[in-house]
Amino acid sequence: MNVIIEIRNLYKSYGSGAAAVHAVNGASLDVNRGELLVLMGPSGSGKTTLLSLMGCILTASSGSVKVDGLETTGIPESKLPRIRLDHFGFIFQGFNLFPALTVRENVEIALDLKGIRGAKARACSMDLLSQVGLAEKAKQYPANLSGGQKQRVAIARALAGDPPIILADEPTAALDSASGRIVLDILSSLSRAHGRAVVLVTHDPRVLDYADRIVRVEDGRIASNRDQTLLTDSGAMHR
Ligand SMILES: Nc1ncnc2c1ncn2[C@@H]1O[C@H](COP(=O)(O)OP(=O)(O)OP(=O)(O)O)[C@@H](O)[C@H]1O
Ligand SMILES: [Mg+2]
Repeated sequence: MNVIIEIRNLYKSYGSGAAAVHAVNGASLDVNRGELLVLMGPSGSGKTTLLSLMGCILTASSGSVKVDGLETTGIPESKLPRIRLDHFGFIFQGFNLFPALTVRENVEIALDLKGIRGAKARACSMDLLSQVGLAEKAKQYPANLSGGQKQRVAIARALAGDPPIILADEPTAALDSASGRIVLDILSSLSRAHGRAVVLVTHDPRVLDYADRIVRVEDGRIASNRDQTLLTDSGAMHR
């Protein structure tokens, strides 16, 4: 089966009654293994909410989200952390590293959550840091790293336990151009070389060079969803 996330007729509202915000409003989408899928769209269009529903960080008001064939809507809240740990690595704009832990410990804590501990965790954390080109920074603290390096640590942490899906919300928004490109290079090689699905929310036009598919989100729905058809936030065609 090539589809790893199947979203059907998905709705998510915040609040209720007249004050309700319908953040995701009838979205349907498939995410395939091995693809770098980009979600673009105006601010407030529902991209972060959609990504959070995919990753079982939020629960839907109605509709269906299947992850690797497993229906996740309606599952008790207590079971969602296990589903998240087994299937997803998360990367956020703000890195979310623990400042009091070294680079290596930041990765090891994620490995620990996935049941990888001791000597195996030490070897694994160094391997992951090598994959993002940061092995030599293992003993540093996040405060001593550049933004791009912090985001590469966050990528190494997201890869802990080898999840089949990486969800990244504006991972290059806080980075300069050169660091942003390195982060996009790594995310794109993750999907191509390892058959992972990478879903990336971004306003970054450089992503046009990397995406397998760009999906445009508008008013909580999928407005366009075409292979090799590249749209900018303004809706203009590229290529
Ligand atoms: N926790 C929340 N409580 C209430 N409303 C929310 C909450 N989170 C998001 N919203 C609203 O839901 C809508 C979609 O928000 P969302 O964060 O998904 O958009 P986005 O496309 O990620 O925007 P941006 O590009 O600015 O990050 C917006 O109208 C937003 O104000
Ligand atoms: Mg957002």
